[in-house]
This record gives sequence, structure tokens and C-alpha cells, in this order.
Amino acid sequence: MYKILIIEDEKKLALLMKEQLEDNGYTVDIAFSEIQGWEKFLSFKPNLVITDMKIEYPDSGINILKKIKDSGLHSDVIIITAYASLEVAVEAMKLGAFEYLTKPIRIENLLNLVQKLQSRFEKMEIVNIDNLVKEKGTFDNIVVGAPTSPMRRVYEMLARIIASDGTVLIRGESGTGKEVIAKAIHKHSSRSNFPFIQVNCAALVETLLESELFGIEERIATGVKARPGIFERANGGTVFLDEIGDMSLATQTKILRVLQEKSFERVGGNKTINVDVRIIAASNRDFEEEVKKGRFREDLYYRLNVLRITLPTLRERKDDIPYFIQFFLNKYSGLKITGITKSALKKMIDYDWPGNIRELENVIMRAIALVRGNVITEDELPRELTGKPTGRRTNEDIQLRLPDEGVSLDELERMMIIQALDRTNYNQTKAAKLLGISRRRLSYKIEKHNIILPFSKNE
Ligand SMILES: Nc1ncnc2c1ncn2[C@@H]1O[C@H](COP(=O)(O)OP(=O)(O)OP(=O)(O)O)[C@@H](O)[C@H]1O
Ligand SMILES: [Mg+2]
Repeated sequence: MYKILIIEDEKKLALLMKEQLEDNGYTVDIAFSEIQGWEKFLSFKPNLVITDMKIEYPDSGINILKKIKDSGLHSDVIIITAYASLEVAVEAMKLGAFEYLTKPIRIENLLNLVQKLQSRFEKMEIVNIDNLVKEKGTFDNIVVGAPTSPMRRVYEMLARIIASDGTVLIRGESGTGKEVIAKAIHKHSSRSNFPFIQVNCAALVETLLESELFGIEERIATGVKARPGIFERANGGTVFLDEIGDMSLATQTKILRVLQEKSFERVGGNKTINVDVRIIAASNRDFEEEVKKGRFREDLYYRLNVLRITLPTLRERKDDIPYFIQFFLNKYSGLKITGITKSALKKMIDYDWPGNIRELENVIMRAIALVRGNVITEDELPRELTGKPTGRRTNEDIQLRLPDEGVSLDELERMMIIQALDRTNYNQTKAAKLLGISRRRLSYKIEKHNIILPFSKNE
């Protein structure tokens, strides 16, 4: 909220300005005299004061200005002056009123100026990370978010799902936390003492996926050794079939049988094996569409869809963004970073996050590595968010030609190290290779340049 106090004895002008500013979303109060103005300044604590130079007697605008300066409360001041009193305006500027408008006031000019001051104010203003969140928004190291979050409903359902032991289908765009939820379900279920085994159905070709899931029977002729599959190894526990939408129809048929009969045969074998596993499946595909196109078995879809969770995208849960920022900053920087500028926060809230939580997590990790002080600013955000060609310290298109004005070799080194770490997902061995130095030397330089590394991603 940006608060403006207007001190102006010309009532008509004061009211007109108030109305226009309010129409533009500002919170405005008016005072018609210097005394009233000062009282309101103290109670209202405006971010900006717009005051006439000539209320009641010639230099009372200056008077107010002096008082504001001495009060220790920070506020910008716009002085409204008649052309004739330019001399006074100069004095006002000496006192720190950087802006003035001459009468007659053009509303358009006023609005432009206010907007400029507001954005300057927001750029400077720092939000304390811990003030971002209103109440504890996490559960078991999972961000649930704001009280208004659509995720709260998902969590209410989760308790029932955990208790029921039925098959679960988790849907949601990439990076919305499907894996996180699948693990949470297992961890809190009665199966938690048995294995949780995950398989990415999209990453393996059909034959490999089948032997992975169901195991292989010994084939002496070809020297293939017998090997139990995931379903056998997970007996008693949970199998997480990630990206199930990418599974071939043949494999789908076998999965359907596991669901219906809890049995299967190893690849190349004919002995029927019985197991007790819970299946959690996840996909970012549109199943109805896949079924219609004949790419997904309808009966399997209905079997899986008993208990379903649809995870909201990050753009649908913007109120939760501050909770995630706090969570990831704590997770990856400990207590080193304590704030974020208001403008950086706004950029993060305005962005539409196609990669959802994973993308946000990466943005924070990167910002932690880049930041020098203890506050995240716009400079540490990638260009997708800021719309700026490149950030100050992340110039990816660096030309290896000494600029005329010279360069700080130290800064250049720091920049390169950060880029190498960024590119290798903080793998120091790989980053060192990219930079042509030893891993030990890189560690030394990371310390020397005070580059904060995110904590290990896989705790
Ligand atoms: N609620 C949450 N709280 C904290 N971290 C989360 C949460 N949800 C997701 N994450 C983090 O976001 C990243 C992506 O989550 P996850 O891998 O579960 O997404 P996904 O939906 O499985 O994505 P994909 O479809 O790409 O596989 C992970 O690093 C995870 O730790
Ligand atoms: Mg996943």
C-alpha cells in the first residue's frame, strides 16, 4: 500500500487530486492546514506528502518539510508551487524535497510523478522474509501455503487418501509437486516401513520398462540372470508409476492385471507371482483426451482414477509464492538471506511460472549464489522474470575482449564461476572442468568470492 497525504488549503484542488489519486489505486488523506497536516503526517505515516508552498502564510510548506526531515520518518515530498515562488522552491529542494510541480497542476503530470516516486520507493523497500508469511505454511517440509491456497483443499483430501490404501492418480503440470505428494502419501501410510519404489515410465523403452517392473526369469541359453522387478521388491510397500501417460498399451494391460489380481509373471517366465503393493500413478497428460485417442486404456484409467489429486499450478496459487520464497531461502541459504526487495517480490508474483515450483526453486537457488548482501534484489533474478536483457552480474553474452574502460578481473572471475556452477546445477566437479581448474582450486575460489552455495538438493 502506497499512502499519500495532501496538504492543501485550496479545497477544490485538494479534493480533485485526492479523487484522481484514489482512482489510480493510492490510499489518500487530505489536510487543509499546516497544523492538521502535521498531525495527520504523524498518525497516517504517508509514503509521500504533496504540499502547497503557500498554505496560510508564504513559507509554511517549508516548515512542514523541515519537520518531516527532523521526524526521522521517511517520506517523499512533492512541493506544489506557483511560478512566482520559484525561489522558495529552490530552498525546498535544498531541504530535500526533490520534486515540485508548478501551478496550474496538470493531473497527468502529477500522476506520472507519483508513479515514479512509488516505483523508486518500492525498489528501495525491503521486505523481511519472515514477515512475508502470515502463519506457518508448511507441513512435514512441504509448503502448503497461505490460508487461501487451493492446496489446502488438496491437503484435506490427503488425510483420507492416506487412510484408504487405494490406488491414487496424481495429476498436475510439470513441477507442481507430484513426486513430493506421492512420497508424502507413502511416508504417512501404514506401508511406510516397506519400500517406496519409483519408476519413470517415460524414460524407458517398452521392453526395458517391463523387465524393470516385472523382473526377468533366467534364460540359460542367452546367459540372462534372473532378477526380481520393482513390484516384487516393493512388496508390502508402494510403487510410484511416474509419467504413466507415456506407458505403452501392452504394458498398460499388465498393470491393469496387477491392479485387479495383484499378480503377474516375470518377463520370460510363466510362474505367477503375487504381490501386495499400493500403486500411485502420476502424469501431466490429459487422460480423457488420451483415452479418446486410443492411447490410454479406458478401463485402466477408471481403475487408477479412484482417488485422484489434481495439483494446482503455481500461477493458480500466487498467494503461496511468498511461502515458497521463504521456504527455499531457508532451505538453501540457512539464515544468510533475510530480505527481498519489494520490486523483486513483485516480479516473482507477476511471473506466470510455466515450470511451476521446480522453476521457482531454481530461481531461488540461483539468486542465492549470485547475491552479495543479505537481500535478494531484481539483479539476481533471471531475465524471464525481469524482462531485462541480462542482469548485472549474469551477463551470459560476455565478449572476451577487454573493454576500453577496462574490467575488474576479480568480478569477471566471480561471474564465470557462478555461471559454471549455474550451468552444472552446482556440481563442483563439473563446474571445475568447465573452468579448466581443479575441484580444490574451485572450492578455494568459491570461498574467496564469497559465493553462497545452495545446500545439497537431495538432503
Ligand atoms: N509443496 C512443496 N513444498 C516444497 N517443495 C516442493 C513442493 N512441491 C514441489 N516442491 C519441489 O519442487 C520440485 C518439483 O517437484 P516434483 O518433482 O514433485 O514435481 P513433479 O510434479 O513431479 O514434476 P514433473 O512432472 O516435472 O516430474 C522439487 O524439487 C520439489 O522438492
Ligand atoms: Mg515428477
